[in-house]
Parts: sequence; structure tokens; C-alpha cells
Amino acid sequence: MARILTGIQSTGTPHLGNLLGAIRPAIELAHAPENDSFLFIADLHSLTQVKEGEVLRKNTYATAAAWLAFGLDTDRSVFYRQSDVPEVTQLAWYLNCFFPYQRLTLAHSFKDKADRLEDVNGGLFSYPMLMAADILLYDADFVPVGKDQLQHLEMTRDVANRFNHKMGETFIVPQELTRSETMLIPGLDGAKMSKSKNNILNVFDEPGALKKLINKEIVTDATPLEDPKNPDDAVVWKLYNAMAGEVASQKMADQLRAGGYGWGHAKKELLEAIVDGFATERAAFHRWMDDPGALDAVLAKGAAQAREVAGPVLERVRSKLGY
Ligand code: TYM
Repeated sequence: MARILTGIQSTGTPHLGNLLGAIRPAIELAHAPENDSFLFIADLHSLTQVKEGEVLRKNTYATAAAWLAFGLDTDRSVFYRQSDVPEVTQLAWYLNCFFPYQRLTLAHSFKDKADRLEDVNGGLFSYPMLMAADILLYDADFVPVGKDQLQHLEMTRDVANRFNHKMGETFIVPQELTRSETMLIPGLDGAKMSKSKNNILNVFDEPGALKKLINKEIVTDATPLEDPKNPDDAVVWKLYNAMAGEVASQKMADQLRAGGYGWGHAKKELLEAIVDGFATERAAFHRWMDDPGALDAVLAKGAAQAREVAGPVLERVRSKLGY
């Protein structure tokens, strides 16, 4: 049996990149009979950016609702809010004391903002050690993530090895799991889809809003309708490819290359793939969002299960440290 663990920040409603890059693959792994799984909402990480309690709470509900709407079965997975397990901040402190300051200065999460140091808080700087604590606290074997998190996983392995080396075998050193087809979902502008870049597709939005966004924000070139087009550099095709699977996206690529098929047609097919493809999930998402009490109950059950595992692991660490 392998233990799968992954988390998502609650900085907004999970976008298409989160859903295809993390939530869907993690649920598939979590439901495989040979695995057990820990899936959580990283609302302590979100605090590095979001300071309004009401916003944070709402985002946390939206993130929980997205997992559940995509079919997460909480009888088969431990599903919880990071902040409900205080053991994690304690472990993060210990790990911070075993990891070189110099290495933390190289983390993308910090480096991307290093030219605007006035925007960087201490939490953002030590973010990778809280993430390492998330993983090591549960003896996780595999961590499914998108490409943008690979450096953090490397730091997790690094700090686990440093601790094990100095204090004796304590932590399981985890492996990342990535999928080539969904490693990096582009945003509407072609850069990585990311809340902070304001280029996201929220698949839970109303179809009308999605249509507007796709038609207005996805950039295409000015090739006339009848001319052949190159799908490989086109955001609309890349998104369709991530959504619709190999056969359908190959068909669209052939049509684009043949000519007589316009970007407008491609956008229409992309919209349909999202609206129809996620119709059930969209309805389920809104049902959950209308019932925060039910979300709280699900998350409370998960927190209790998570703490049962976290407590003994933290004790193992503390005894190694001489506390
Ligand atoms: P976060 O919240 O930025 O993203 C959550 C997951 O979604 C993936 N992802 C993407 N995948 C494909 N294309 C994209 N455009 C895209 N954008 C995001 C991310 O790779 C990630 O898998 N630090 C983490 C949260 C975290 C965590 C953890 C993850 C905290 N503790 C422990 C795993 C294990 C983060 O900010 O992810």
C-alpha cells in the first residue's frame, strides 16, 4: 500500500490548471484500492497572500467544494483543512531549523518576488518548509503535483534527508508524481494558468461568463478562416487538448491544419468541452457551496483522522530532538 498526499492553496476557486493538473489525477490515485490518501486545503499557505478572514474562509469552502464536486470519496480519503492540524506548524519550525537559509533564498515562491522585497513576508520565505511539513507529517510516499511544485518537492526530500542523516532515520523521503499531458495547463494568455496572473478559467462559472472569457481573452492570430493554421502554438488548442483527450484534439488539430476551420470554431468547441464536460461537477459544486455546514462536517471528520496520524509522527520527531 502506498500513501498519496497532496494539497491545494485556498487563494481562490480552483481553476482548470488545478483541476486537471492536481485534483483529478489525485482523486484517481486516491481511489485506487492499493493506495491510501491524504488530501488537504493549504489554508495556512494561503495566509502568505490573503489576509481577509472572510475571503480566506470562502476560498477554503470553494476549494473543498471543488474536490468533492470532482468525486472525492471521503470514506476512502482523509480530506482536511491544513489549519485544523496544528501539529504541522510545529513540524515546520523543526524543519526550518534543519534547512539552510541559502537554499530557501533559491525557492521560486520567494525568488519570483525577491525584486519586490517589501511584498515578501517571513511566511512566504519559509513557505517550502511548511510544505515539507505537510508531506513528512503523514509519512507520504507519493505527492502528485504539477510541474510548478517540483522544486518544493526537491526541498522536501532535501530536508528529510538532512534530518535523517543528522538525527537517524525518521522521515519517509517522498517522490513526486507528475503526468506529462497535464503537467502545465496554460492560462488564457498562454503563460502558466495562475490566479496571480489573472489568466484563469473558472469552470464552475456560468456558461455565459465562460463564453465571454474564452471569446475575449484567448489570443489568436489573424490567419483568415480559409487558411491552414498551426495548432501547436495556439492556446485554444492547447486547452482543448488538455480537456478533450487525444482523439478529439487530434481531430481539431487536423481541421486547423487543413484550413476552412477558424479560431472561432475552435473556441466554440473548447467552450462546449468545458460546459458539457463539467456539467455534473458544476452542479455539484454549487450544491456544496450552498451548504457550508455540510462542508464543515466533512472537513472536521478529516481533521480528526489526520491528527491521529500526525500526532505519533510528531512525537517520533520530538523524541529524536530530545524534547
Ligand atoms: P497551488 O495551490 O498553487 O496549486 C495546486 C496544484 O495545482 C497544480 N497547478 C497546476 N497544474 C497544471 N497547470 C497549471 N497551470 C497549474 N497551476 C497549479 C500545482 O502544481 C499543484 O499541484 N504549495 C502548493 C500547495 C501545497 C502542497 C503541499 C502541494 C501546500 N502543501 C503539500 C503538495 C503537497 C501550491 O501552492 O499549489
